[in-house]
Amino acid sequence: MQNNKIVVAYSGGLDTSVMVKWLSKKYNAEIITVTGNLGQKSELINLEEKALSTGASKAYIVNLQKEFIEDYAWKALKGGALYEGEYPLATAIGRPLLAKLMVEIAQKEGANMVAHGCTGKGNDQVRFEVGMKTLDPNLEILAPLREWEFKSREEEIEYAKANDIPVSAKLEKLYSIDENIWGIATECGILEDTSQAPPDDAYQMTINPKNAPQESVVIKITFEKGIPTKIDGVEMPGTQLVSTLNDIGGKHGIGRLDIIENRVVGIKSREVYEAPGAMILHEAHRQLEKLTLDKDTFRYKQNASNTYANLIYDGFWFTPLFDSLTAFFDKVQERVTGEVTLELYKGTIKILSRISENSLYSQELATYTEEDAFNHKDAEGFINITSLPHQVITRHTKNKFVVVKS
Ligand code: ARG
Repeated sequence: MQNNKIVVAYSGGLDTSVMVKWLSKKYNAEIITVTGNLGQKSELINLEEKALSTGASKAYIVNLQKEFIEDYAWKALKGGALYEGEYPLATAIGRPLLAKLMVEIAQKEGANMVAHGCTGKGNDQVRFEVGMKTLDPNLEILAPLREWEFKSREEEIEYAKANDIPVSAKLEKLYSIDENIWGIATECGILEDTSQAPPDDAYQMTINPKNAPQESVVIKITFEKGIPTKIDGVEMPGTQLVSTLNDIGGKHGIGRLDIIENRVVGIKSREVYEAPGAMILHEAHRQLEKLTLDKDTFRYKQNASNTYANLIYDGFWFTPLFDSLTAFFDKVQERVTGEVTLELYKGTIKILSRISENSLYSQELATYTEEDAFNHKDAEGFINITSLPHQVITRHTKNKFVVVKS
């Protein structure tokens, strides 16, 4: 008789395969594996078979791609969420969705424990566990990689052999890779040396911009209330739209990032990302916001975006502040409708045109020709009043910025 039922977040790689057996022995447990399909290409083949032959009693593989794009990626896009100004958060937005899936299946199956295969120094353990604890504080969470006896991949492979666990892992694995439809994250190996440029084999979704076609490509993206709906006038579902942009962008070397980032636990890490679709959409979306949002809203949103990105990175998706900021962004996005035309060329994205029924650009006000409708005289009073507090300071105290030279 088994005492425990554990739902395991499963990828089919070496760690989670070993974990299934290790947990079932250690906790005398029935194991149910759960895999969320977020558009990772390589990892899903024969997964159910693999899980069952490793000792799981049941293997869930759930296609979450639509939900991932519509409820997670679109929020990040509308919120302008780029962590530390750059990283489009592909891995980070996937974790809360997987945490939710784990909790739903644990509750449905009546499991008393959940387990994941994240390491003890990364962000993903935090995101997973903060997410799961927030959604169901009663579940016991296990993180075997933080406590088990194996000190290397070799030892895990030994254990796998001894326990008839089918693993295809090679001893040398060049990189640690996390993949979904919003982007790929790659670290470890030579990438740990920050003085070295990433070798070409660290990339799989994008071509080296140097080798990209000599001919640029022009694409038009239509947004409705901040959500991209069409490419070149053709309406398509979000998942298809993102993967189309991944293909086109990848061919032109778009969306490669090489970043040093601050992890939640305080470590700095070097990560290489590929996110052609996400980077194209962020750029197009930002350009449309510049056309359609008033100055104060645009400026305020920049700060809110930074907070939003930090919340996502740190795993605080299911929280009141995240919800409130989401409502703010949704309100702001009511104006962000229109078309943006971009040119992709050897790793660069250039804006060619932006059009919107909600455009706040007035050529009459902007022009320097005789059509100019701006009253230049108004500027004088404006400058007097906006500088008034500072004039008062100088009248009452010595101005520390002016040094009279004798
Ligand atoms: N640094 C990224 C993040 O925290 C990606 C983490 C997973 N990366 C990996 N290569 N396995 O969101």
